[in-house]
Amino acid sequence: MKIYIKTYGCQMNENDSLYMMGILEKEGHEIVGSIEVADVVIINTCAVRKKAEEKFYGKLGEALHLKKNKRDMLIGVGGCLAEKEREKLLEKGADFVFGTRSYPRISELVEKATSGEKFTYFEDHIDEIDSSTPRRLKGHHAWVTVIYGCDRFCSYCIVPYTRGREKSRPMEDVLNEVRNLALKGVREVTFLGQNVDAYGKDLGDGTSLAKLLRESLKIEGIDRLWFLTSYPSDVTDELIDVVASSDKISKNFHLPVQAGSNQILKRMRRRYTKEEYINLVNRIRNKVKDVSISTDIIVGFPGETERDFEETLDLLKTLKFERVNLALYSPREGTLAYKIYEDDVPREEKIRRFQRLLEVQKELNRELNERYRGKVVDVIVEARAKSGLMYGRDIRNKIIAFEGDESMMGKWAKVKVRKITAGPLYGKLVWLEGSKDDEDKTLWRSGAQAKSEEG
Ligand code: SAH
Ligand code: SF4
Ligand code: F3S
Repeated sequence: MKIYIKTYGCQMNENDSLYMMGILEKEGHEIVGSIEVADVVIINTCAVRKKAEEKFYGKLGEALHLKKNKRDMLIGVGGCLAEKEREKLLEKGADFVFGTRSYPRISELVEKATSGEKFTYFEDHIDEIDSSTPRRLKGHHAWVTVIYGCDRFCSYCIVPYTRGREKSRPMEDVLNEVRNLALKGVREVTFLGQNVDAYGKDLGDGTSLAKLLRESLKIEGIDRLWFLTSYPSDVTDELIDVVASSDKISKNFHLPVQAGSNQILKRMRRRYTKEEYINLVNRIRNKVKDVSISTDIIVGFPGETERDFEETLDLLKTLKFERVNLALYSPREGTLAYKIYEDDVPREEKIRRFQRLLEVQKELNRELNERYRGKVVDVIVEARAKSGLMYGRDIRNKIIAFEGDESMMGKWAKVKVRKITAGPLYGKLVWLEGSKDDEDKTLWRSGAQAKSEEG
């Protein structure tokens, strides 16, 4: 059958979809790139904010419209919103609805739906994902989810309800998967978890993210390792040390702070204070040379006063994050904040605060990017951007765009920075792996020289 998969939400969902594609392809189905030609449409959904839900309903509407002229077409809904809405989605037109831990059985689910039955399926089969599971690859980079779920229950967040309790994959199996990926030409791997630094805790056998990174460094062919997302109070000194110890581990910590006021952090049920967070950032910066730190912030959380907001603004100015993902608070049914707090910051005020932070961050980004002026950065060429330029990212997760073509994808390149903006950098390619003037291939392949130099 021809199957179209549309994915919303975070990298974890993206990765789940790649596994679904691999599993379905192995069973003889064809994954198609357009909804019009599909026999089965699978929508992998996100529920983190209202807006994500609205996007899904737009897509569902489109699929239902097509179905009017194509009665046999099936619509399957998985992911976080499927966990939240369950049977209600059948009433809204879906043919089958499945949970965030049920997708390893996607092929059976499609088969069952073909027989005409409408159903929901929420059994936990997540253990069936292992190093032998077929998966789609997307270029030279792969995500590997190492810990499922989240036990943190931040008061605003729906994820613990949609993804369940924390469950780590055995380290040996993760390493086997990374080895397989390396054999298939993957050069960069990102270890994923909603709270990736909790990796291994539930296994009780001494497994940790630091240990996983250390072991992964030994795998030949893997040039760069990333990990995402760190919960601030779970970052250990051991992790910081291992990041500092190797040129192959990204010099980037994504450390969502969410707010700069202790009153708000407490209401959010984040388990750190502003002071502890600042301390952690300083600890990381002292140990990891040239590290970049990025964050997430929610504006307009219930009870956020102008003063609380100013504290967040000050934190941004003091810590100078390399990147900030901003979101307006969105009440999520079922969460603690939804139950006990009134969504009392007016929408216009949320937007004003959002815009103010954005403005300040843009200015900071421009200033921070100055450090790249005149430098030559080392990237692995990733893809073509909408602008038509090719791009890659450096070890600090900074994106640089330059003239080139698809044949460069997956190769190491040196790019001389020519133009600095508040967003990506722009530059000129000065060296490409495998080209005539690539004299020391082996050195590059080892990734050992992946350092910036003055140009
Ligand atoms: N596990 C990660 C983040 C997962 S959700 C962490 O602990 O930080 C990604 C981001 O969405 C969060 O960092 C938060 O900034 C935002 N978010 C989550 N729930 C939200 C809500 N109800 N309203 C607005 N933003 C929200
Ligand atoms: Fe949500 Fe908090 Fe878990 Fe992140 S740590 S997924 S914000 S509950
Ligand atoms: Fe969205 Fe679920 Fe990810 S709510 S952000 S898809 S964990």
